[in-house]
Amino acid sequence: MLKRKEKYVVSVVGATGAVGNEMVATLEERNFPAEKLRLFASERSEGKTLQFEGSDIPVETLKEDSFRGIDIALFSAGAERSKIWAPIAAQSGCVVVDNSSQWRMDPTVPLVVPEVNSHDLKWHKGIIANPNCSTIQMVVVLKPIHDVARIKRVVVTTFQSVSGTGKKAMDELLQQTTDLLNFREVKCNVYPHQIAFNCLPHIDKFLENGYTKEEMKMVNETKKIMGDDSIRLTATTVRVPVFRGHSESINIETEKKLSADEARGVLSAAAGIVVFDAPEKNVYPLAIQVAGKDETYVGRIREDESIQNGLNLWIVADNLRKGAALNAVQIAEKLLEMA
Ligand SMILES: NC(=O)c1ccc[n+]([C@@H]2O[C@H](COP(=O)([O-])OP(=O)(O)OC[C@H]3O[C@@H](n4cnc5c(N)ncnc54)[C@H](OP(=O)(O)O)[C@@H]3O)[C@@H](O)[C@H]2O)c1
Repeated sequence: MLKRKEKYVVSVVGATGAVGNEMVATLEERNFPAEKLRLFASERSEGKTLQFEGSDIPVETLKEDSFRGIDIALFSAGAERSKIWAPIAAQSGCVVVDNSSQWRMDPTVPLVVPEVNSHDLKWHKGIIANPNCSTIQMVVVLKPIHDVARIKRVVVTTFQSVSGTGKKAMDELLQQTTDLLNFREVKCNVYPHQIAFNCLPHIDKFLENGYTKEEMKMVNETKKIMGDDSIRLTATTVRVPVFRGHSESINIETEKKLSADEARGVLSAAAGIVVFDAPEKNVYPLAIQVAGKDETYVGRIREDESIQNGLNLWIVADNLRKGAALNAVQIAEKLLEMA
């Protein structure tokens, strides 16, 4: 458990990555009470520095005693690194908020979206998991609807940006787009197919049941965060040539009837959500508008006329912020409140 202090020694592991960079920026923007910030990445980043509150902070490599004296560590360096280093950090008395998939479904580790289940932070044992980006923005919207109308089933299709894969994927989209516009041959290193001017119905590995790991993360993580195994959910996750911001088309079947207007009212009153829904004026959430924003945007709210109690929604959020860095920093802020 975190002890109450005026300021904390904070660290970001994976600081040079797409999410890590955003974590450093988010800590600064939100005036997180950091007495000191320590940054870690791989040997490839040795000698690099990153800016924080006007100072150049050196990027270090991880060692057994790296976490001594650190109060909170935000991890974003991939599952393999989290598997090894998160328990070492927790052993040193540091509270870890882990952004990788390593600990998410571990029953001894809380999986938290502060707007939905901050109460689960009470039982952490040193590691707290940050959910998958596409799950976070979905549950922020599902929870208020579940509370008033009880969700029976969800059908979700995602349109996920390349920043969800990390920095190398953003470079690949830029390079392929430039090559194609200059009549040069396209090279594929990060994805199995060309991502520029294309959509790939393939995120993470394929499993035996025909779904991808990303799709099953959405199914399993939703149940854990919402604390309700009875919600049925099926997902199709698609990578699209967008740099930043995940969009999702969601169909929800509820036990109780909720009109589109009632749903707008419920969502407008909920924390972390902006209802952006005036289709007659061409107003609906777009990835390019939502990039850099903290809230989850919802539009195209309408009743599903093919069933008795159904809604269709379009949900967009910045995957690097609410889908990753911001959610992790919000968890850390909640921990300070509880300290
Ligand atoms: N991108 C998203 O929207 C998103 C959302 C939710 C969760 N996540 C998760 O967040 C994690 C990072 O994602 P990302 O998109 O930021 O990836 P990324 O851009 O590829 O960054 C990876 C980071 O990990 C560091 N790293 C790699 N090997 C390391 C090692 N041996 N020791 C210490 N640091 C090491 C890298 O350092 P170098 O620069 O030195 O190589 C870099 O800072 C992944 O687990 C991912 O699943 C990502």
